[in-house]
Amino acid sequence: MIRRLARCIREYKWPAVLSPLCMIGEVAMEVTIPLVMADLYDYGIVMSNMEYVVQKAILLVICALASLAFGSASAFFAAKAATGFAKNLRHDMYHHVQSFSFSNIDKFSTASIVTRLTSDVANLQMTFQMMIRMAIRSPMMLILAMISAMGINVRLSLVFCAALPILIFALVMLVPFVFKIFDRVFKTYDKLNTVVQENVHGIRVVKSFVREEKETEKFTGISGSIYKDFCTAERIMALNSPIMQFCVYGCMLAISWFGANMVIASGNDPALGLTTGQLSSMFTYTTQILSSLMMFSMVFVMLTMSRAPMKRCFELLSEEPNLVSPAQDAVMQVSDGSIDFEHVSFRYSASAKHRALKEVELHIPSGATVGILGGTGSSKTTLVQLIPRLYDVTEGCVKVGGVDVRNYDLEVLRDQVAMVLQKNVLFSGTIKENLRWGNPNATDEELERACRLACAHDFITGFPDGYDTHIEQGGTNVSGGQKQRLCIARALLKKPKILILDDSTSAVDTRTDAMIRQAFREEIPGTTKLIIAQRVASVQDADMIVILDNGMVADVGTHEDLLQSSAIYKEVYDSQQKGGDR
Ligand SMILES: Nc1ncnc2c1ncn2[C@@H]1O[C@H](COP(=O)(O)OP(=O)(O)OP(=O)(O)O)[C@@H](O)[C@H]1O
Ligand SMILES: [Mg+2]
Repeated sequence: MIRRLARCIREYKWPAVLSPLCMIGEVAMEVTIPLVMADLYDYGIVMSNMEYVVQKAILLVICALASLAFGSASAFFAAKAATGFAKNLRHDMYHHVQSFSFSNIDKFSTASIVTRLTSDVANLQMTFQMMIRMAIRSPMMLILAMISAMGINVRLSLVFCAALPILIFALVMLVPFVFKIFDRVFKTYDKLNTVVQENVHGIRVVKSFVREEKETEKFTGISGSIYKDFCTAERIMALNSPIMQFCVYGCMLAISWFGANMVIASGNDPALGLTTGQLSSMFTYTTQILSSLMMFSMVFVMLTMSRAPMKRCFELLSEEPNLVSPAQDAVMQVSDGSIDFEHVSFRYSASAKHRALKEVELHIPSGATVGILGGTGSSKTTLVQLIPRLYDVTEGCVKVGGVDVRNYDLEVLRDQVAMVLQKNVLFSGTIKENLRWGNPNATDEELERACRLACAHDFITGFPDGYDTHIEQGGTNVSGGQKQRLCIARALLKKPKILILDDSTSAVDTRTDAMIRQAFREEIPGTTKLIIAQRVASVQDADMIVILDNGMVADVGTHEDLLQSSAIYKEVYDSQQKGGDR
C-alpha cells in the first residue's frame, strides 16, 4: 500500500530526499552546540581565556546559523515534497475514477469518493510532510545526543538508561489506546461526511419533508461522538506530558546530584573528570534525548491517524476498471444501427441473488423505432445500458452493427450509441457549452437544428440570454421537462447511429412528446431509436414494441399485434385509455 502511494512522489523525489538530509544537518548542529558551549565555559570563561571565548562564540554563531539554514531548508523541501505528493495523488485518483465503469462506481458512494479526494488526501499530505521530518529527526536526535552524552561521561549517561525504560513503558501502554480511538474517529468521520453530503445534496428534499431537525440531530449525534473520542484520545495523550516531565526532572535531579559530586571530586578539572560546562551540556542532552522519544511516539500516533485515509486512498487507486477497450484489434467503426441481444442474462454483481435480465433474445434492425414498456423495476434501464456497454453482460452477448460490443473501442461505440439517461444531469455552464458535450465542434446551426428536433429551441430563445443562458450546477434553474429536452438535444448532436431515450420525455407534455417523435421520424430516419416510456401513446406508433416483465421479454410486436396477443399490453393500454377518457 505504501509503495503504491509512494509512487505519487514522482518528480518531487529530490525535495523528499533533501528534506531529511537537511534535517540530519540541523540535528547535528543542535547536538554540537552544547559541546561548544561546554568548551567555551570550561576552557574560556573558567580559565579567563578571552581569545578562546571569542573563537568559540564565533563557532557557536556559525553552528546556530547553519542549524537555522538547515532547519528552514528542511521545512521548505518537506512542504514542497508533500504538496507535490498530494497533487500527484489527487491527480492519480481523479484520473482513475474517470476510468471507472458504472459497476465500479456502484461500489463507492459519491460522498466517499469526494472525501477520499479531498480530506483524505489533505490528511496524507500533512502526515507526509511531518513524517519526512519527524521520522528522521527523532531517531537521529536520540542517537547523536546519546553518543555526545556518552562522549562527555559514560557513567553519568547511565542515568538515561534508568529513565528510558519508564518512558518507553509509558508509551507502550498509552499508544495502543490512542491507536484504537483514532481508528474509530476516522470511521466516524466517514459517517459525518456521508450525512453532510447527503444532506447538502438533497437539501430540497430535506426541506420539503421538513426533516431539518431530524437531520441536524443526526449530525449532532455523529459530531458529538467525534468530539468525545477526540477528548478521550487527547486526555490519554495529555498523560504523556506529566510522565515526560517526571522523567526529565528525575534525570536532571539525578544528573545534578551525581554530576555535582563528580565536579567537586575532580576539582572542575577537565583532565580529571566532569566540569561545570560539561554538566550543563548534559542537561541539554537530557531534554534532547527525552523529547526525541516523545516525538517518536507522536510519529506512531500520526501513522495510526493516517492509516485509515491511506487505506481509503489505496482502495480507490487499486479498484480495477472492469470495462476497458479490447487491448488488440478493437473495432473502430460501427457499420449500422442494428442491435442484437443473444441469450443475454445479466446480474449487477456476482453476489446479487437475482438476475436483472434473463435469457433476453431480441433483434432490432437498423433505423427501426422501438418502444420499450414495462412496470417499474422490470429492467428496462438495465436492458438498454448494455448497448453502449455501460455494463457487461453476464451471459450471452449484445451486438451492435453485427459486432459484439465488447470488441469495439469504447469511445467509438459510445459515440455512435447516444443515451439519454433516466437520471440525467446538466453541468454548470451555458446552454451552448452543455450542448457541445455531444459534439465540441458543432456549429451554431447544428445546435439549433438539434434543439428544434428536441423541441427545445423555442423555450431557449425565450430566455433573455438565449443559448448563452447560464445553467446552474445540476440544472436547477430549468424545469424538469426543459432539462429533459436539453439532454435529448445534447445526445442528438452526436449524430449517433443509435439513440436511446430512457424515460426522457416523462416530464414533457404529451403534445410536445408527440412533436419530438414526429421530428425524429422525419429528420433522422436512419437512426435506430429506442424509446423507453411509461405512456403507451409515446410508443404506439413504433415499428416494434418490447414488453419487459421482471427482466424477461414478455412480448414483442407492433401496437396492433400486441393488442391481440399481449395481455399485459392490453391491460396497460386500456387503463391508460380510461385515464384519458375521464
Ligand atoms: N446499480 C444497480 N445495482 C444493483 N441493482 C440495480 C442497480 N440498478 C438497478 N438495479 C436493480 O435492477 C432491477 C431493474 O432495474 P431497472 O432500473 O432496470 O428498472 P426499470 O425497468 O428501468 O425501472 P423504472 O421504470 O423505475 O426506471 C431492479 O430490481 C433494481 O433494483
Ligand atoms: Mg429505468
